[in-house]
Amino acid sequence: MKNLPIALTLIISTLLSIAAAAPWAQTLTKGNKNITKLHFYVHNLDGGPKLPNNTVFLVANASITATSPTRFGHVDVFDDLVTAAPDIRSEQVARVQGTAAYAGLQSFAIALNAHFYITSGEFNRSTLGVAAHITVMDRSREVPVIGGTGAFRLARGYCLSSIYSSDFATGYSILEYTIYVVTHSHEIVWTGA
Ligand SMILES: *[C@@H]1O[C@H](CO)[C@@H](O)[C@H](O)[C@H]1NC(C)=O
Ligand SMILES: *[C@@H]1O[C@H](CO)[C@@H](O)[C@H](O)[C@H]1NC(C)=O
Ligand SMILES: *[C@@H]1O[C@H](CO)[C@@H](O)[C@H](O)[C@H]1NC(C)=O
Ligand SMILES: *[C@@H]1O[C@H](CO)[C@@H](O)[C@H](O)[C@H]1NC(C)=O
Repeated sequence: MKNLPIALTLIISTLLSIAAAAPWAQTLTKGNKNITKLHFYVHNLDGGPKLPNNTVFLVANASITATSPTRFGHVDVFDDLVTAAPDIRSEQVARVQGTAAYAGLQSFAIALNAHFYITSGEFNRSTLGVAAHITVMDRSREVPVIGGTGAFRLARGYCLSSIYSSDFATGYSILEYTIYVVTHSHEIVWTGA
């Protein structure tokens, strides 16, 4: 069939445009559970406190940080913009705020405590709390969702995150996050006395 390459190209470009158009938040109801998938990009700029758009600031070092090969005791606080697409000018959907503490004496590891604060769409003003051990050298990371507020009350779930891009010279990195959150499909309310 002569037109096969053209047909294939059409199919592939259609599939790509569907993938590109996938909304950043989607919910499926299965039985008495809602499963929500969030997919977005975190903009982390650790370029020094003098940059007006810096989003990561050093809070403290430990007495041994300066001589620690794993930066033990270094604590950062951050407030990163979250967008629907990798471009920082794309739709703003959340902030992620928290602390990252270098907590490995022998390995390059971070104890991460963070909160996604949704600022757009049907989950506006809901939050998701995450806490994790991160091996700094891993390109893909798994972070548990430990709870939430608003639409995410009683939430459980996990995030898969990876480094979408990283520029060592400027300290600007983009992290891609896919979060799966399970909640009840009907709100559980107190009906007792
Ligand atoms: C941050 O600001 C600097 C200088 O104002 C600019 O060159 C850079 O592109 C900005 N970075 C981000 C990630 O917005
Ligand atoms: C922490 O250590 C870094 C280098 O190791 C240094 O640049 C910075 O000034 C120190 N900051 C504090 C708050 O101790
Ligand atoms: C989200 O909530 C804020 C109030 O916290 C409101 O100002 C804003 O318009 C809302 N945005 C959307 C997209 O619903
Ligand atoms: C569960 O998901 C459905 C479909 O998105 C939604 O209508 C419903 O409000 C959700 N339930 C809760 C408790 O948020």
